[in-house]
Amino acid sequence: MKIARITLSDRAANGVYADESGPEIERVTASYFTDTLDWIRVLLPDDRAQIETALIRLADIEQCSLIITTGGTGPSPRDVTPEATRAVLEKELPGFGEVMRMHSYEKVKTAILSRATAGVRGRSLIINLPGRPRAIGECLPLLAPAIAEAIDHISGFRPGLVNEVFKAPCRP
Ligand code: MTE
Repeated sequence: MKIARITLSDRAANGVYADESGPEIERVTASYFTDTLDWIRVLLPDDRAQIETALIRLADIEQCSLIITTGGTGPSPRDVTPEATRAVLEKELPGFGEVMRMHSYEKVKTAILSRATAGVRGRSLIINLPGRPRAIGECLPLLAPAIAEAIDHISGFRPGLVNEVFKAPCRP
């Protein structure tokens, strides 16, 4: 399965600190999907035009089945990932963001600061995750069954899931 991860962070893109969230997306995704994952890795600053260009390239040219972003979903002035995502989506799937916020709120009350969304462009499913490495492990397992179902609907093949994913708690 061709899959992309995009880390959105001014500081990581400028080398102030290392990108830990991108590798964490790979680690968590690989532990829930049984398909061989062919990764495209992108690191960008919180720049709306660059984010939109990258999403369009990964969907339209690279034809990724799944594009996962991390970071830039909060309320600060430089957080523009949801805006960039919505601008390129053909169909929004608000349930992904809703379940992330609802589930994460039980663990961390600041979860509702994330404006993460998701949706479809062409044959690609695009999903925003919050930027903290810990948030990725808290959110992605909950979404995995719906990711597999959505990819099946969008592009006609169903990625395999490990059994453990169905045991991911709906409540912590
Ligand atoms: N969700 C989970 N599961 N775990 C977290 O630690 N952090 C929150 C929220 N969602 C968090 C979370 C915080 S503090 C912020 S500001 C928002 O995500 C937005 O983060 P982002 O701008 O890095 O995407």
